[in-house]
Amino acid sequence: MNYTERLSNVTVLGAAGKMGSGILLLTALEMVDLSLKPENRGKVFVINAIDVSSEALAGLMRYIRAQALKAAEKKTVQLRAVYADRADLIDNEEIIMQYVDDVMVTIRPSVNLEVAYNSTLIFEAIKEDPELKVKLLSQLDKNNSHKPWYFTNTSSIPITQLDEKANLGGRIIGFHFYNPPAVQKLVEVIKSAHTLPEVEEFALQYAKSLRKVVVPSADFAGFVGNGHFMRDALHGIGEAEKFAKDVSLPEAIYMINKVSQDYLVRPMGIFQLIDYVGVDVCQYIMSVMNPFLKDEDLHSDFLDRLIGQGVLGGQFSDGSQKDGILKYEKGRPVAVYNPDTKKYDLISDFQASCDEKLGAMPRSIQPWKSVAFSGKSEDMLKTIFDEIKTMDTVGARLAKEYARRSKEIGLQLVADKVAFAEKDVNTVLLTGFFHAYGPINNFLD
Ligand SMILES: NC(=O)c1ccc[n+]([C@@H]2O[C@H](COP(=O)([O-])OP(=O)(O)OC[C@H]3O[C@@H](n4cnc5c(N)ncnc54)[C@H](O)[C@@H]3O)[C@@H](O)[C@H]2O)c1
Repeated sequence: MNYTERLSNVTVLGAAGKMGSGILLLTALEMVDLSLKPENRGKVFVINAIDVSSEALAGLMRYIRAQALKAAEKKTVQLRAVYADRADLIDNEEIIMQYVDDVMVTIRPSVNLEVAYNSTLIFEAIKEDPELKVKLLSQLDKNNSHKPWYFTNTSSIPITQLDEKANLGGRIIGFHFYNPPAVQKLVEVIKSAHTLPEVEEFALQYAKSLRKVVVPSADFAGFVGNGHFMRDALHGIGEAEKFAKDVSLPEAIYMINKVSQDYLVRPMGIFQLIDYVGVDVCQYIMSVMNPFLKDEDLHSDFLDRLIGQGVLGGQFSDGSQKDGILKYEKGRPVAVYNPDTKKYDLISDFQASCDEKLGAMPRSIQPWKSVAFSGKSEDMLKTIFDEIKTMDTVGARLAKEYARRSKEIGLQLVADKVAFAEKDVNTVLLTGFFHAYGPINNFLD
């Protein structure tokens, strides 16, 4: 079965979710582009969008239509060539609408798993529940006579475990898109102990066609991305808890968030990132990883406490940030949650005194955006860290400790053979987390 045949009948499981909707969009566009090639005329391409909620599927179809329209508008010139033999399509608008129609007729929304029994490729993007994933994968595989290939988007479950428990005989690979899949360039590709070479070959071809940056990861719970992020987050939480002996917890959170964003020149502070991913999602990923770790306990009582109080973060369906550890107005943090009072404390009430405690900001500091897209970020970062190195303010000390811990985590991932090379760790942080520099660097040496 060649690349096109493999992509002729596809299923996305969990299609209405955050990841599933992006995977569905990218794959549907890839399939329609294939279907419009002269050699594929007349062939039928189908992608089943399966989810448990038909309401969510209706919303999904509206999302896909809007995104397909945007995609068509971007490539109208190419589409003119593709539809050149269609005398009925004259205006750009007609061409664009034809492409949108071609995408929409390819997608079959359904709440029934049975429709996947004919698929040759199945993307699994349901929630991070190992038992549910194994149950659905087993059921699919028992009932699908085509010996389908499975691309799982799990963030933390070892692929070998899914492979063996669902009895898939190596027809599975971890294809870990980042959120949102349509925007994020990074994909971590993880082979199980049994993944068939042809499945990997296809995965790499599909990734290339989607213009993704592929980083291979060993099949170890959490892989490279979450392997770094979860430990980095625990460092930030630990620092805030230590600091909370002198100031209130919300003040300590504000300070560590500021250091991890402004001093470390990152796109967002660590507590904002935890909110972005979801407080409960972070805690869950740690709990899935934990049994596989020998000398480490990836766990946070603080996150447990927040979850117990219903403070979860995450995003609304339009992609905007829900309140979590921080409260947001127009996407910017304005208050910090206080688990003792169960209320948000306004940042404006303590910002000045906290900033004073941190001390003067390094003069060379620039916002992440100005550094990351400057074209000379290496030089700018060297200047910033050279200055931080010489400073002894509270803020500079916290920043140095944070950067060193982040590097240590990266090096440990390589030493533990979760990452195959230092550059892979850096690529994951640069591409998947939009950092301006990789954690394994010599800025503080
Ligand atoms: N959100 C992220 O940042 C992110 C990033 C990378 C990987 N992931 C991984 O992707 C997967 C999905 O995560 P998400 O954030 O998109 O979750 P989500 O909760 O947004 O989506 C999961 C979807 O699965 C559906 N679902 C649940 N049970 C189902 C069933 N039995 N059959 C069919 N559909 C079912 C839900 O209705 C929901 O629409 C998880 O394994 C997660 O770890 C998430």
